[in-house]
Amino acid sequence: MTARVLDGKDQGAEETCPSKDRRRIAPGHVLDRHGLQIMKHTHPALRSLRKACSTPSLHGTQVWRSSYMLMEYLAAHPMSRGQRVMELGCGWGLLGIYCAKHFPVEVLLTDADAEVFPYAETHARLNRVQVRTEQVRFEAISEQRLREHDILLGADICFWPELTTELRRLIERALLLGVRQILLADPGRSTFLRLADDCERRFGARLVPLKTARRTGAGGHLLIIDGLGTGA
Ligand SMILES: C[S@@+](CC[C@H](N)C(=O)[O-])C[C@H]1O[C@@H](n2cnc3c(N)ncnc32)[C@H](O)[C@@H]1O
Repeated sequence: MTARVLDGKDQGAEETCPSKDRRRIAPGHVLDRHGLQIMKHTHPALRSLRKACSTPSLHGTQVWRSSYMLMEYLAAHPMSRGQRVMELGCGWGLLGIYCAKHFPVEVLLTDADAEVFPYAETHARLNRVQVRTEQVRFEAISEQRLREHDILLGADICFWPELTTELRRLIERALLLGVRQILLADPGRSTFLRLADDCERRFGARLVPLKTARRTGAGGHLLIIDGLGTGA
């Protein structure tokens, strides 16, 4: 599958999707979180997107708070120049957009649901960053794509039992293909904790409890997998 660039020009959104219309970005309807501009539900562009585009069907319908946990972690552990970052299950893409905005890195946003990309596109434009997108399920991410990336990130992406299995397989493949770090955040769902337990045993991963600043009010866990640990 070909990755597409979202750069505020032709974003690859549906022809009918109003996210191509720059005039609809209204500064009064945005939240500032971790230096990111995020559309409020009242934002005219968001309202237009909801009218014109199909609704994301796998919960990619908002920014989920686990994204803020990872942003806070990354603020304290910045990415170095040239890292190639892939966000898994990106939804509106704010986590990947955060990386592109704050660090000198390349970002690919991936999701199984193509309907999330107009929302990610509009946020990329609002935050003046370039990211690429690719519609792909965890299990279908190609070897080549994994080899091309140093860091995989994901927030609140392990919410069904089958996703535990898909992500376990993806993590193993990614580490074997040389991905250097995988960072996942989650509010503490049992499906995620099972994945974390497996990764701790097999890859020497660390599960870190985290509570973010009151403003974003997120709490849960980060799973930090640093390449192939001693348990592999
Ligand atoms: C709860 S949302 C989280 C979105 C985003 N990470 C955030 O924190 O705001 C879960 C996302 O995972 C995506 N997703 C679900 N199953 C997937 C799969 N098998 N492969 C890739 N993406 C998937 C959904 O489309 C959705 O965008």
